[in-house]
Amino acid sequence: CGIVGYIGEKDSADVLLDELGKLEYRGYDSAGIAVFEQGKIKIVKAKGHLSELKKKLEKTGTPRGVCGIGHTRWATHGGPSDVNAHPHAAPNVTIVHNGIIENYLQLKEMLKGQGYDFVSDTDTEVMAKLIDYSYHGDPLKAIAAALGHARGSYALGILFADFPERIYAVRKDSPLIVGAGQGENFIASDIPAILKYTRHYYLLDENEIAEITMQGVTFHTLSGETVEKEEQTAAFDIAAAEKGGFAHFMLKEIYEQPKSVRDTVNPRLLNGLPSLGCGDLSGVERVHIIGCGTAMHAGLVGRAAIERFARVPAEVHVASEFRYGDPIIGKKDLAVIISQSGETADTLAALRLAKQKGVRTMAIVNVVGSSIAREADCVLYTWAGPEIAVASTKAYSVQLAMLDLLALQLALDHGRISPHETRVLCADLQKLPDMVEEALKLDASCKEAAAAYAKQEIAFFIGRGVDYPSSMEGALKLKEIAYVESEAYAAGELKHGTISLIVEHTPVIALATQSKLFEKTVSNIKEVKARGAEVLLLCGKGAHVTEDVADHVLMLPDVPEWLMPSVLVVPLQLFAYYMAAERGCDIDQPRNLAKSVTVE
Ligand code: G6P
Repeated sequence: CGIVGYIGEKDSADVLLDELGKLEYRGYDSAGIAVFEQGKIKIVKAKGHLSELKKKLEKTGTPRGVCGIGHTRWATHGGPSDVNAHPHAAPNVTIVHNGIIENYLQLKEMLKGQGYDFVSDTDTEVMAKLIDYSYHGDPLKAIAAALGHARGSYALGILFADFPERIYAVRKDSPLIVGAGQGENFIASDIPAILKYTRHYYLLDENEIAEITMQGVTFHTLSGETVEKEEQTAAFDIAAAEKGGFAHFMLKEIYEQPKSVRDTVNPRLLNGLPSLGCGDLSGVERVHIIGCGTAMHAGLVGRAAIERFARVPAEVHVASEFRYGDPIIGKKDLAVIISQSGETADTLAALRLAKQKGVRTMAIVNVVGSSIAREADCVLYTWAGPEIAVASTKAYSVQLAMLDLLALQLALDHGRISPHETRVLCADLQKLPDMVEEALKLDASCKEAAAAYAKQEIAFFIGRGVDYPSSMEGALKLKEIAYVESEAYAAGELKHGTISLIVEHTPVIALATQSKLFEKTVSNIKEVKARGAEVLLLCGKGAHVTEDVADHVLMLPDVPEWLMPSVLVVPLQLFAYYMAAERGCDIDQPRNLAKSVTVE
């Protein structure tokens, strides 16, 4: 979910709607705003994308005033509906909420006993009424008292009916920033929401309450002490959060990959050697890589590089499994936490568990100042800039590049490769942005291939070795945005069951970028072709491809094989993009998904 708030001279509804537009990637099941109009709070909310709310406002009239809060929702408790949309109100209190209040049913019973009625199925309405119940004229005390009873995660924007020119905000395990402008101030789940108005902001710490007026912001602990905070400045400007002439954010972000990789790699090289600034890694006995979704796929590719160069065993864990899996971790292990947003609830919990186990933690994160970045022992920032499209592209590429650097640093520190060999590999890595640029030239061929497959409802991706995790990422992209049921298989494994699903024209996308394994994958291609599959082969330029091997071939630029995953992913992203376009899908906001999942 995304939350916003505005207080200032401008028309708050206009600002809130604009801010929400920048946060829609966080969820788009419903949206709503609450604005003080002539001292009274007016709420308008609607099921569906923000455009539905705008339509409703046109019909019902937009509330006008200088202070308000807003929300765009990814449904958790209670399906998408007008009633379940935020803001939620109690007589004295109106709130927007991101997170989950775990004990909301108990609290609801208690509040019902106190005479409160409920109209929605949400935990948020319970929270609004709990704060209302705790309110006796002092907002700070009411918030602190209510939070004393609530268990779970929250970022809250709160209006009190008695204070028409104030917004309160508090957070725990869910992101929230306070934007600082000239005579106007903001709250938002993420920086892009406020960039049009200000680049200055404060990071709220856990359970810190912000009291926001037009003139300024004060911060308080739950026990009522005032806290001094340092103002932050966003490293990017509004252009980074706009489409810039591209049809979709996803396409823009695919095309930004050369720059993102360059910005990520160059500052981490010193005299041609990796310089991660996370201390000596020679004592690391095992690496645990943890993430969700695309970040976890990056981890799978990174594992291969770590094991290949450093010969240090590496495991990849899905964060949601790791956190409840009683993982076996040694004191000399290294936990590498990967997250674009730095806020994914499961990944954050996995980081906390790793820290509890006393193991050294390293975070690979794209959002500066995010929870994971702040809590890890050491953070390696990737510099993709804001990623808006829900399907992750450039964030994946920079994660791969950072994991390559980590693999080389580990290998060097373990004495597995000489400084000279490391320099040669780092020089390869420095050329990676140009190689990715070269791969972007496959755009038209990807579009053509997508047109050939657009009517198919299933697809299989196959690959061996490091091409297998790339297959997983390719399949995920196609599922996420084009709604094609696609599965990834280690190429040698398809015949052990799933080959039964191959019939005439079933798409099989075969990835074969590693020369040692090329012939083996070709054998698997023959097996599926013999059963009618229509094969799209992606391989290096140097591969010996006879005419009958595949129906369509995409030749990748000549690059060192260890860097192939970074180049290969480009046509996979473009293929998914054009498949989604052919199929008329909502590319930047695919159904049911949210970019930043701050609930478990
Ligand atoms: C969501 C997104 C995915 C993303 C995953 C992890 O599910 O839809 O694209 O890979 O979260 O996000 P993170 O911000 O932790 O990398």
